[in-house]
Amino acid sequence: MPDTAASFTPPRAARTVVFRHEGSSTGATIDLEVIAARLSSLAAHGAGLGSRVWRIVPMAMAENRTERADDIIYACKWVNLDDPVRALHLPREFGWLNRLGGGYFPVPVAQAMLRPDAYLLVAEWIEGRNLALHAPAIVAELIAAGTFKRFCGDLIRILDRLQEAGVAHSDIWEPNIMVRDQRPVLLDFGWARTLGGAPARDNLHQPDDRLAMTQLLLRLGALRRMLTHPQAT
Ligand SMILES: Nc1ncnc2c1ncn2[C@@H]1O[C@H](COP(=O)(O)OP(=O)(O)OP(=O)(O)O)[C@@H](O)[C@H]1O
Ligand SMILES: [Mg+2]
Repeated sequence: MPDTAASFTPPRAARTVVFRHEGSSTGATIDLEVIAARLSSLAAHGAGLGSRVWRIVPMAMAENRTERADDIIYACKWVNLDDPVRALHLPREFGWLNRLGGGYFPVPVAQAMLRPDAYLLVAEWIEGRNLALHAPAIVAELIAAGTFKRFCGDLIRILDRLQEAGVAHSDIWEPNIMVRDQRPVLLDFGWARTLGGAPARDNLHQPDDRLAMTQLLLRLGALRRMLTHPQAT
């Protein structure tokens, strides 16, 4: 049974997204067609295939100019909802992020249905490195800076935050963790559900957050051991 316990306002079909900048009450309203056209031009094989995350600078996009240093950057996740299970779960991502707040999680900014089969999530852009792609370099840096233990503590605090908020992320592993200023940020609530609810039927990843986090910590520990005692491996 897919989880139905969470109640969220479903994203509405929209023509525009309002981007609100931190500290300002007014937002820049950007036509979704502009975003859709830009994303399509960026995609080699067309946007909307599966899900894809883009780094976008909406003000530069709206004003059709190049990026400036003071522009705010956002992450735009375009999700193709061709499968009913994806269609049920993925548009909830905004709601989960809203419930969790920022810090260890990206701040949600806007969501909309671009088309009946395409969902768009706009969130804070996390400037950092993906743990899956850069684990050895990241762990080496954490060891050198003396922050490896703090990083592991952060991961445990993430687990606590999820638990407190009643959220089961259900897809905790390296590709869904960005490392920013030596601290982890957990992304991708596309398969999240209410804690205790049944996982989505086609979620092939680890549905048990505590187990998934323990496995991740063990992998990081093994990497640390390899880096600090290379002769013993
Ligand atoms: N807010 C963000 N800031 C920076 N990079 C991001 C952000 N969100 C996602 N990314 C990058 O894009 C990649 C894919 O994002 P995400 O994990 O949300 O999508 P997905 O795995 O394709 O989605 P799903 O599992 O929901 O189908 C991430 O591994 C990360 O490298
Ligand atoms: Mg992911």
